[in-house]
Amino acid sequence: MPVSPYRIEPLQKQHERGTFASGSEPLDRYLRQQARQDAEKHVAAPFVLVAPPAHEVLGYYTLSASTVAADELPAELAKKLPRYRQLPVTLLGRLALDRTMRGQGLGEHLLLNALHRAAVAAAEIASMAVVVDAKDEAAIAFYRHFDFMPLQAQPARLFLAMGTVTKLFGQLP
Ligand SMILES: CC(C)(COP(=O)(O)OP(=O)(O)OC[C@H]1O[C@@H](n2cnc3c(N)ncnc32)[C@H](O)[C@@H]1OP(=O)(O)O)[C@@H](O)C(=O)NCCC(=O)NCCS
Repeated sequence: MPVSPYRIEPLQKQHERGTFASGSEPLDRYLRQQARQDAEKHVAAPFVLVAPPAHEVLGYYTLSASTVAADELPAELAKKLPRYRQLPVTLLGRLALDRTMRGQGLGEHLLLNALHRAAVAAAEIASMAVVVDAKDEAAIAFYRHFDFMPLQAQPARLFLAMGTVTKLFGQLP
């Protein structure tokens, strides 16, 4: 198997963020101006895609602990769960790839890496799903392609049950 030239690692000071252009200004601005602060304050954990030895960021995603209200989940799923009002989830807050890198499977690579990381963490700090806030129709379609389902009443907020995520990877970590 060929060795991947890419690595996904926690965002650090040495990563160059200035040239990152995903086609979404809010996602680019977040990476440039907010991501490091969020990491320092433990509000979000940003991970970046790089091609070592270069430090230029080619893509990124963020993960945070979050909750959803049980009544936001589809009734079919909610009725199988204990009757807690709030349920723990992992929020995939943002995910973006530089425009120049699109269409080669790297968006999928970022997503699978985020799901794997969420599943490993959930083995020790429970989380019953990965939730994403899709910013537009194209993003909704991207997540639907990977079997994410909309939460009730919020079509741009989608989730993938952690049971489904862990099955994707078999034995963890
Ligand atoms: C969404 C994004 C990460 C996709 O990255 P990408 O590298 O172009 O996608 P990939 O090449 O990894 O595609 C993987 C699979 O997803 C599919 N796919 C990609 N974008 C899709 C979309 N918008 N809708 C439906 N399917 C999509 C591809 O067809 C491919 O399917 P296949 O493996 O069955 O052929 C990228 O377009 C991006 O960064 N967009 C701007 C930011 C954004 O919208 N982020 C989403 C969260 S807010």
